[in-house]
Amino acid sequence: MELLEERIKKDGVVLPGDVLKVNSFLNHQIDPQLMMTLGQEFARLFKDAGVTRVLTAEASGIAPGIMAAYCLGVPMVFARKKKPSTVTDAVYTAEVFSYTKQVTNTISVEAKFLDANDRILVIDDFLANGEAAKGLISLAEQAGAEVVGVGVVVEKAFQGGHDWLVNHGYHLEALASIKEFADGQVIFN
Ligand code: G4P
Ligand code: NA
Ligand code: NA
Repeated sequence: MELLEERIKKDGVVLPGDVLKVNSFLNHQIDPQLMMTLGQEFARLFKDAGVTRVLTAEASGIAPGIMAAYCLGVPMVFARKKKPSTVTDAVYTAEVFSYTKQVTNTISVEAKFLDANDRILVIDDFLANGEAAKGLISLAEQAGAEVVGVGVVVEKAFQGGHDWLVNHGYHLEALASIKEFADGQVIFN
């Protein structure tokens, strides 16, 4: 997506360890107009998938997730990373290992917010090694729901997540696909 690539080139900062910092419009300050445009693009890409619910993870998945859900006319649910003290009902949980932080988090969603009849669109901000996406897919599948798509704002295609999802037959769409970082510059596919 041209608009997003231009914004990444303008405002993104490549950090050591192959990390792209985009906290001026996606991960800290959030550009609502851009998010709506991304949501419209996700809705266009998945319009024939029969999506009934968007599933994302807090915190950074919520902004693109809510816009995609709004444009598709479906609800959005986000997996929590901390177990809320108010949860007394059944929950689905999945373990997510973060390579960047070298910690395992348990993500969870209340069972009542995922249905066996759901056709789930998983949305996230970044796809790197794919651990977050795998965890979200696991939550959906525990509910007996079908994952009909995975949409990410930015993928680092040279890390493992892209290949894993495609090899396992998931319909993956990345609005910006990074081939590599070279001398502090972002090279797109
Ligand atoms: P994975 O989920 O694809 O396996 O990736 P990894 O463990 O490496 O990522 C851990 C966290 O870092 C995730 O956010 C992920 O979205 C984010 N991340 C991975 N690579 C990049 C990158 O190049 N740039 C940025 N900005 N983020 C990246 P999280 O821990 O779930 O945090 P939150 O922001 O959702 O709270
Ligand atoms: Na994320
Ligand atoms: Na993140």
